[in-house]
Amino acid sequence: MLYSEKVMDHFANPRNVGELADANGVGEVGNAKCGDIMKMYLKINNGMIEDVKFKTFGCGAAIATSSMATELIKGKSMDDALKLTNKAVMEALDGLPPVKVHCSVLAEQAIKAAISDYYTRMGVDPRPIVGDI
Ligand code: FES
Ligand code: FES
Repeated sequence: MLYSEKVMDHFANPRNVGELADANGVGEVGNAKCGDIMKMYLKINNGMIEDVKFKTFGCGAAIATSSMATELIKGKSMDDALKLTNKAVMEALDGLPPVKVHCSVLAEQAIKAAISDYYTRMGVDPRPIVGDI
């Protein structure tokens, strides 16, 4: 079996899909390797990720990793969300085939881009906090 049961579950029943009308941080990133696109919506309150939704024009591995990533950051602090790595997301999904590892980077980058957008909207330079995306 190429994909773990958890990957198949998150692909077939992705969590937190859609848009957030009251998002105050929105990030969109593209995967240079395949052209796929991911958009992440965050509702941040008091430094906490109160709600999160995503939309992707991407492959099954991108859908599964984004779904898992949103589950991992929901209710957590912005700092915790910034520390979430694609490796941690893949581990939570019991792994991905090597050719699909690049897909898992989209979610991590989209979260960083959304937090970056949040700081920009607050008038704060996000670069020292979020780093390069
Ligand atoms: Fe995106 Fe394969 S290149 S689905
Ligand atoms: Fe493009 Fe997976 S093949 S994100």
